[in-house]
Amino acid sequence: MRSSLLLLLVLLSFLAGVTHVRGASDFRVCAFNLHHFGESKSKNAAVMHTLSRIITRCDVCLLQEVRDSKEKALPLLISRLNSYDTKHRYDAVASERLGRSESYQEQYVFVYRTDTVTVTGQYQYPDDQLGDAFSREPFVVRFKAPNTAIKEFVLIPQHTTPTNTTRELDSLYDVLQHVKNMWKTENVILLGDFNADCGYLAKKNRKYVRLITDTSLIWLIKDKTDTTVRSTTSCTYDRIVVNGERFVREIVPFSAKPFNFQTEYRLTDEQALDVSDHYPVEVLLKVVKSRFPFNGATSLTLSGIKETLSKLCSFFLLKHLVVV
Ligand SMILES: *[C@@H]1O[C@H](CO)[C@@H](O)[C@H](O)[C@H]1NC(C)=O
Repeated sequence: MRSSLLLLLVLLSFLAGVTHVRGASDFRVCAFNLHHFGESKSKNAAVMHTLSRIITRCDVCLLQEVRDSKEKALPLLISRLNSYDTKHRYDAVASERLGRSESYQEQYVFVYRTDTVTVTGQYQYPDDQLGDAFSREPFVVRFKAPNTAIKEFVLIPQHTTPTNTTRELDSLYDVLQHVKNMWKTENVILLGDFNADCGYLAKKNRKYVRLITDTSLIWLIKDKTDTTVRSTTSCTYDRIVVNGERFVREIVPFSAKPFNFQTEYRLTDEQALDVSDHYPVEVLLKVVKSRFPFNGATSLTLSGIKETLSKLCSFFLLKHLVVV
């Protein structure tokens, strides 16, 4: 009786020690340039369906090129997400409309699952800093995600202007330093359609971009990865950049990639381009054990079971020796 209680205790303490449980519970961060998302796309049922499938894969999804002047398309999208995926609740936090001309404005929008994420801070980088370096100043948001290993992190979004990519990317470095200071954190990811390739970021200009030359910043979406839908283009425009090795360790290795929704959902070129001319890019954050330790048991690997058994064996051996 007493020994079976002990056995249970050992098992429990082992399971409680299980961290980084992989599988369905991985935490996905995405960035997606929706290419002129507004009234017209919101009225296209097929497009809205595909968007729902894509966005509900993510715990947090940065949307770019939201051009919703009547403020109806975004609420409609959120309501579609909630009816498409009833296992989670989705909400969004959006920037003001940003842009140098009245006629062309975009919003940054972060869609997130309210059951895995809470917003703990937001900060609009001011327009007049760095001699007005950006067309669309970053709308920075801090998230708390208790089931991730990193717990709390900041996302700095950027959709660069193609003709000013080098300068905007370099200025993003100053935004990063500012945000790190302001919120006393190193847990930062910069992400979005950086236009960081092909004609917009010449090889010879890369040495002027501190976001590239500072080796403590890790670019997860590698050069030569195609993040564009058109079969005639192959450019790594969309990027995910992580601040520091410590954060990288809390990311699932090799999980950063574009999500090719065209092949995934078997869409024609035309159907895919109706949705966007970009693929989303995504990365998985490691998750830790759930609050109830036995949930972890379902994901235990064979080696985990072997380890448990060997722990139990040595425990009983030890106990026996002590009793003798
Ligand atoms: C590029 O940047 C300069 C300097 O910040 C700005 O004056 C210009 O309008 C920008 N070009 C575009 C297309 O936004």
